[in-house]
Amino acid sequence: MRKQIVAGNWKMNCTLPEGKKLASEVIHMVEDEVNNNAEVVLIPPFIHLTGIFNLIGSSSKISLGAQNCHQSQSGAYTGEVSAAMLVSCGATYVILGHSERREFFGETDELLAEKVSFALENNLTPIFCCGERLEVREAGDHESLVDTQVEKALFGLSEDQIRKVVIAYEPVWAIGTGKTASAEQAQEMHAFIREQLSAKYSREVADSISILYGGSVKPENAKEIFSQPDVDGGLIGGASLKSRDFTNIIKAFD
Ligand code: 13P
Repeated sequence: MRKQIVAGNWKMNCTLPEGKKLASEVIHMVEDEVNNNAEVVLIPPFIHLTGIFNLIGSSSKISLGAQNCHQSQSGAYTGEVSAAMLVSCGATYVILGHSERREFFGETDELLAEKVSFALENNLTPIFCCGERLEVREAGDHESLVDTQVEKALFGLSEDQIRKVVIAYEPVWAIGTGKTASAEQAQEMHAFIREQLSAKYSREVADSISILYGGSVKPENAKEIFSQPDVDGGLIGGASLKSRDFTNIIKAFD
């Protein structure tokens, strides 16, 4: 059985007090109300990691993630954060290749391949993001674009390594726009990615990898999207900043 995951990517939002309040609310609501086995991942900005980790405590349902990491172990890279540092703050996940990192910080598939293998070496689970921009979808090239992103960043990994990766399909045109991909569009791309994994590795490996959908997931549409056979959860942006909405999205698995 694949792991079901609902991850909240806070992006560059929340001061530390705001983040602690949000995390505390989510932790309590999840403990009191959620009746499923989905893993919940809180992904705050770097500097809140320790503070949020202390709030999570020993909760077995909630994990901590970071939004990025550098591709080197340490060194003269002012302003950067290493995978080992994230682990030392309690993170077990790291988002890599988010479309905002690709667009605003020039991250390429080649760089992401380095980051993914570095994260794995440090025992961090990468949440590798892929997804097409609107013009690519309109031209009908979305599958070939995602094919290239996945192949270039992930297919240098061994079978043991790829099993430890989580993939998030986030169509860029659905991020923060309120325009969600339809459940059919999500399922179609998730099935495509799983076929790609099966062809490169094996059916068994492909069936073991969690593929999350991201892009305007809300309490109102989560159930329909999560009920698709190849959708194993969500990577949530805006709605993860509201404890009630985020918890209701997690409850879509109940
Ligand atoms: P929204 O849920 O705000 O569309 O953001 C999705 C996202 O980018 C999560 O990483």
